This record gives sequence, structure tokens and C-alpha cells, in this order.
Amino acid sequence: MRTPIIAGNWKMYKSIKEAFDFVTTLKDELAPYTAVERVVCPPYVALTSVQAALAGSGVDVGAQDVHWENEGAYTSQIAPGMLQGLVKYVIVGHSETRAFQGVTDEMVNKKAKAALAHELRPIIAVGESLETNEAGETEAFVGKQIRAAFADIPAADLANIVVAYEPIWAIGTGKTATPEQANTIIGMIRGVIADLYGDDQAEAMRIQYGGSVKPGNMVELMSQPHIDGALVGGASLKVDSFVELVKLAIEAKGL
Ligand code: PGA
Repeated sequence: MRTPIIAGNWKMYKSIKEAFDFVTTLKDELAPYTAVERVVCPPYVALTSVQAALAGSGVDVGAQDVHWENEGAYTSQIAPGMLQGLVKYVIVGHSETRAFQGVTDEMVNKKAKAALAHELRPIIAVGESLETNEAGETEAFVGKQIRAAFADIPAADLANIVVAYEPIWAIGTGKTATPEQANTIIGMIRGVIADLYGDDQAEAMRIQYGGSVKPGNMVELMSQPHIDGALVGGASLKVDSFVELVKLAIEAKGL
């Protein structure tokens, strides 16, 4: 049984104070709902105060990105060692970083490996554009992203990796993939993992869906057998809707 994981990706929202106040309320409201893993990914500047506020709460903290080098002349970037001990998870390959910062498949692989080497758990994000989707090339495109992201990652590290399938056309647009479409692509991703590492490893891998997830579509999405949770942007920014998503995931998975 894979433990579902609901992660809030706050993107470039919330000041340090807003983030602290938010998680101070959130941790109490989430306290009864421990059957799924719950993660918040604030902006870098809020990580320290959010981590302190959530210590001992069972709600984990993630960063939104990481560089692959240990240190160096990389203005604006954050090294994996700087996050070690501060966060449990780190998102790598989010489509916004691929689009705005030129993050490539090869860099995603380097970021994932660097994270693992520093005891950080990567949430590897993949997903296709509307154009690729409409051309019927989703499976080939996402399959290639997955193979590239996992290059040279040993099977022993797989338990520390989460994959997030986020069709770019569904992010922040209000459009979601239908639950069946999302399940099909996530099943395909599991197939690629099986091809690379074997069936048992693929069966154990947690794969989230992301893209306009909200309370109104959560149950349908989480009722799909391959979908092991969600990476949530907009609906993770309000305490009520984040808590609702966690509750609905527990209900949908019968936990
Ligand atoms: P959204 O963002 O839920 O606002 O669509 C998801 C994401 O980008 O991770």
C-alpha cells in the first residue's frame, strides 16, 4: 500500500509572516488526519520559520527547487547542502522552472541526484504542453522526461523519490485532466519505472497528479488506482481548502 502524499506548492506567494501564521493554524487543523503524508513547500525565505513552526507536528516541509552543485558562483541559486536538515522534500523540474529558468531534463536529473546525495527527497515533476497533448504525443514526451530524470539513479534510492505528473495546460488554468486521463498517464509512468527497475519498484513508487486540483475534483482524482496524492498550487494557499484536500484524499482512498 502506497501512502498518499499531498504537497502544497506555494510558488511565489506568502511573506515570511503570512507563511508562519498559515502553518501555525494549519498544523492544528491537520493534526487528526495522519493517514496521508502532508507537505508544504513555501518560498525559500520562509523555510526556516515554517520548519520551526511545524517541528513535531507531522506536517513536512519541502523546498520548491534546488541547484545540483554543492556551492559556487551561481547567483540566486540554493545548494542542496543548504537545505539539508531544513526540509524533507524538494520539488525538481516543475514546469515553471523548466519554462522560466531553462531547466532541462538533464538538469532535473542532476538536481534529483544532488538532492538524494544530501538526504533530501525529490518530487520529480513532469508534464506535457497543450500542443504536445493535442498532437497525441503525451506518452512519448512524458516517458522521455521520466527516463531522463531517473538516469543513473540506483534502485536503492527509489523509496525516497516521488513523481508528480502535471500537465502544463492544467496548471493554474482551472482545467484538469479527466481523472481517467490522469490515471492513464500515471499508469504509463509506472510502466516506465517498471521497465527501468522492475515491477515491485514500480508498484511502490508514489506518483502524484497536479494541475488545478481542488476540493471539487479531489475525490474523483484520488479514486483512481494509480494516483497517489496531489501536488497542489492555488488550492494549497488557504487553510480550509488544504485541510479539505487532505480529508478528501483519506476518504477517497478509504484510509
Ligand atoms: P495549481 O498548480 O494547483 O495552481 O494548478 C499546481 C502546480 O503548479 O504544482
